[in-house]
Amino acid sequence: MHVGGAKNSALKLMAVALLAEGRSVVRNVPRITDIAIMAEVLRRLGCDVTLDGTEAAIEVPAEPGSEADYDLVRRLRASICVLGPLLARRGYVRVALPGGDMIGSRGLDMHVSGLARMGADISGEHGFVIASAPAGLRGSKIWLDFPSVGATENLLMAAVLAKGTTEIDNAAREPEIVDICEMLTAMGARIDGAGTSTLEIEGVDTLNPVRHDTVGDRIVGGTWAFGAAMTRGDVTVHGVRPQYLDIALDKLVAAGAVVEPGDDLFRVRMENRPRAVDIVTLPYPGFATDLLPMAIGLGAVANGSSLITENIFDGRFMFVNEMARLGADIRTDGHHAVVRGRERLSGAPVRATDIRAGAGLVIAGLCADGVTEVGEVHHIDRGYPDFVADLAKLGVEVERADVPEPTFDF
Ligand code: EPU
Repeated sequence: MHVGGAKNSALKLMAVALLAEGRSVVRNVPRITDIAIMAEVLRRLGCDVTLDGTEAAIEVPAEPGSEADYDLVRRLRASICVLGPLLARRGYVRVALPGGDMIGSRGLDMHVSGLARMGADISGEHGFVIASAPAGLRGSKIWLDFPSVGATENLLMAAVLAKGTTEIDNAAREPEIVDICEMLTAMGARIDGAGTSTLEIEGVDTLNPVRHDTVGDRIVGGTWAFGAAMTRGDVTVHGVRPQYLDIALDKLVAAGAVVEPGDDLFRVRMENRPRAVDIVTLPYPGFATDLLPMAIGLGAVANGSSLITENIFDGRFMFVNEMARLGADIRTDGHHAVVRGRERLSGAPVRATDIRAGAGLVIAGLCADGVTEVGEVHHIDRGYPDFVADLAKLGVEVERADVPEPTFDF
């Protein structure tokens, strides 16, 4: 199974392009709805964006716009990542507040306080975050309360063009952050410590456009890995480095799977019913919260009881009622879930509540007798390109019924 570029990297790499006038090209971009929305966000900022296959070409004007409207931001929370680069380039930005979503409240306090430390004047008005720094941003020392992925990215993208040195402590260490640092460095930025919890950034005056390849999607790769283990299957995933999934793959080994890592690939096979394993989500390199629905699914069919703990999003367990419709025995209490495994689940109509819950329900459906119908699959379209075709390639009897194909045009 080939896995393309990571959604959560590609979206931000497109925002990174805003930092340099001229034509940047982001390659290995997944063909998903979120990328099409991000392209539209950039177009409304005055960029000329072409999506061709897995390539996004972005022509950035000398002076990009400085406003991102609610109609797009509410459809793509990640569009908040234009805040840092636009403030750095324009000295003024007005971006709609994304609001909460189905997996939790998701604040912006660390984005705001970090930019304020760099000299920005920030206020919230009529549903917008408004930030200005007419004299330019200045390097500063910033401590994050929590290694937030989004805050680290916004601050990083602002700091590369600030005057002086910025240090971000307790920074996120995700492979997607490293990917962003690599693109920024190729553009001429000076960054030390990518992939560690301290990022040191020395501001430069201008950056140059580049071509960059997006890192493989470890969450999509991890989804297939769990799918293989849960269905007692055998899947080889290409395009994702196994070390980016170290803990997840180790959990599958503890559950009884055989995992063979390669350079940019890994194989997962499982012969017997999985054993129950306890799983705790944490910022990278911990077990990814985006694989939590798959962890619950594994527990649901495992031999024994699993304790699954979620530490990142307060609403991540919302989908368990849907999983229960498939016969899964799950009890949640605060950020813990106890899952008592059953030999088989039982197919039923269920509803995706977010991208990962949607994929998790489909994978759980593979372990259920009879037909499982997953509704609201537009959520899955946001993160998994060609999900149905990929499942069919793996031998699953699956069809996309009465749901329009995702659109990439606006
Ligand atoms: N948080 C705050 N204040 C802030 C920033 C974050 O309280 O200023 C809290 C959030 O409320 C949340 C936690 O910190 O509870 C984690 O937030 P983080 O900023 O780390 O996550 P994010 O940038 O909003 C990205 C991914 C998520 C992924 C998380 C964690 C993108 C577009 N999204 O979100 O991916 O779960 O990091 O790894 O990169 C998905 O792809 O389905 C998805 C939800």
